[in-house]
Amino acid sequence: MNNILVTGSTGQLGSDVVKELLKRGYSTLSPNRSELNLCSEDNIRNYILNSNCEAIVHCAAYTQVDKAEDEKDLCIKINATATKHIAKCAKILDIPMIYISTDYVFDGTKDGKYTENDETNPINIYGESKLAGEKYVQEILDKYYIVRTSWVFNINGKNFIETMLRLSKANNQLSIVNDQIGSPTYTKDLSRLLVDMLETSKYGLYHATNEGYCSWYEFANTIFKLANINIDIKAINSNEYASRAKRPMNSKLSKDKLIEYGFKPLPHWEDALKDYLIRRGDLLI
Ligand SMILES: NC(=O)c1ccc[n+]([C@@H]2O[C@H](COP(=O)([O-])OP(=O)(O)OC[C@H]3O[C@@H](n4cnc5c(N)ncnc54)[C@H](OP(=O)(O)O)[C@@H]3O)[C@@H](O)[C@H]2O)c1
Repeated sequence: MNNILVTGSTGQLGSDVVKELLKRGYSTLSPNRSELNLCSEDNIRNYILNSNCEAIVHCAAYTQVDKAEDEKDLCIKINATATKHIAKCAKILDIPMIYISTDYVFDGTKDGKYTENDETNPINIYGESKLAGEKYVQEILDKYYIVRTSWVFNINGKNFIETMLRLSKANNQLSIVNDQIGSPTYTKDLSRLLVDMLETSKYGLYHATNEGYCSWYEFANTIFKLANINIDIKAINSNEYASRAKRPMNSKLSKDKLIEYGFKPLPHWEDALKDYLIRRGDLLI
C-alpha cells in the first residue's frame, strides 16, 4: 500500500498517524485544510479521485463539542456530510477507509462497558454528527474500519493534560468533574493500532482506547502526581460544572472485540501518560 491519505494531519491524531505510517515505510498524502476542505464536495472528490491513494485514514473532524451546540449545521457538514463524500470516493477507488468515531455516540446511562453492539443514543450535536458519519460509512462501504475512541491526547495537541498543566500555573485550587468515567487515549498508541488494522482485512466496527478507566478528577490527580505539581483539587459532579453540551457519564468502551480479532491492545492510560510527560520533559526517569 502506498499514498495513504490521512485527513486532519494537522490535528492530534492525524499527525501521529502520518508519523506511524512513515516510520513503517509507507508514503502518505497529508493535505491541509486549504488543499482538502471538508466543506466542499467538489474539493473532496477532485482531491481524492486524482490522488492515487490506496487507503484513507479519515481523522479530520469538527471536534469542538460545546461550540457544536451552536454550530450544528457546520458540525454535521464536516463530520457527517464530508464523511459521506469521502466514503463515496473510497468506494469508487475500491480502497479501504478508516473512520474515527467517538464514545459520544452513547448516552452514558449503561451500567458497565459499552460493546460495539450496544445501542447508540448521542446526547449532544457532536455525538449525533459522528454517528451520522458512521452510518454513511457503513451504508456505502464494505472495506471500512470504524474506530470509536475517547479522551484523545497528543504531545502537540490542545488536550486535557495541557489544560491542567496550564491551569496549575495560575491557580491554587481546581475543581474537576468526578462522575464522568472513560479512558484517556494517547494518539501515539492509537496510531500504531490503526496502521496495524490497515495491514489486515479485518474490517468492521471497533472500540479502541488505552486500557483502564478513570474519571477526569482521577486523570487530573495522576497528571499532577507524576508531574510533581502540588495543587489542591476538588472533586465535583457534572451538574456543578457549567458546559454547553451534555456529556455521557459512562464512557467505558469494551475492547474485547479488538483482542478477539487478534489486535494488540493499547497500553494502560497511566503508562501512556508517563510517556507523554517524559516526552514533554515534565517527568524525569
Ligand atoms: N479529541 C478527542 O478527545 C476525541 C475523542 C473521541 C474521538 N475523537 C475523534 O478523533 C479524531 C481525531 O481527533 P483530534 O482530537 O485529533 O482532532 P483535532 O486535533 O481537533 O484535529 C482536527 C483536524 O480536522 C481538521 N479539520 C477540521 N475542519 C476541517 C475542514 N473543514 N476541512 C479540513 N480539515 C478540517 C483540522 O484542521 P485545522 O488544523 O486546519 O483546523 C485538524 O487537522 C476525530 O475524528 C474526532 O472526532 C476525538
